[in-house]
Amino acid sequence: MLSSPPVITIDGPAAAGKSTVGKGVAQKLGFLFFDTGALYRAVTLAALQRGVPIEDEARVEALARTIRIDLIPATQADGRPYTVLIDGQDVTWELRSDAVNAHVSTVSAYPGVRQALKAQQRRIAQQGRVVMAGRDIGTVVFPEAGLKIYLDASPEVRARRRCLEMEARGEHPDYQAVLAGVRHRDKIDSTRATAPLRIPDDAVVIHTDEMTIEQVVDRIVRLARERFRTTDGS
Ligand code: DC
Repeated sequence: MLSSPPVITIDGPAAAGKSTVGKGVAQKLGFLFFDTGALYRAVTLAALQRGVPIEDEARVEALARTIRIDLIPATQADGRPYTVLIDGQDVTWELRSDAVNAHVSTVSAYPGVRQALKAQQRRIAQQGRVVMAGRDIGTVVFPEAGLKIYLDASPEVRARRRCLEMEARGEHPDYQAVLAGVRHRDKIDSTRATAPLRIPDDAVVIHTDEMTIEQVVDRIVRLARERFRTTDGS
């Protein structure tokens, strides 16, 4: 059997359902859910808010090392999966803005930014009992994880799911634009030089086009119980 700390990594492309699924799995197992995309989004938002040019790699890196980012349980019942604070300020919804979406891939390709955030992510993973979602968690951040999942879905299904999410928040998304955005981010995320998105060698790949959220969550929970012999949760 595996030694502690029990860690589940969920990697995969944009809008594959990593947050929704990760949160569901964490709830059932009594684990913490940690969405690492929020860290990259927070650095991007901080740069935009403070007038740091996104192309200025050195200044963006400096921001990644100095701002304090906290992910805490949801402080409002407005559909958010958790609350994100930058230096104590609630930025949960700003992290999902078009401006952040447009620039986050550039920021997350900077090696210095990744290095600064990796240290933070490893500290959290080492505490164990965590579901950590991202692009490079099973490959780079915590390759010793006991269970690695790679969540995939076609770009069309991911774009449709993203549109539904936005509509639920009262927005009026254009499907073609959302689809183009998903494809654009896939390309940057999987072709960047540092820690590109790829399937960890020992990952369980789950293709979710034809699956409900509950089915995906149940599959991962079953796998986790086998690997970690955990009896927590329902
Ligand atoms: O999962 P998301 O859409 O919130 O991720 C936002 C961006 O952050 C995405 O362009 C990829 C990047 N990211 C990353 O490079 N590494 C991670 N571990 C998580 C996210």
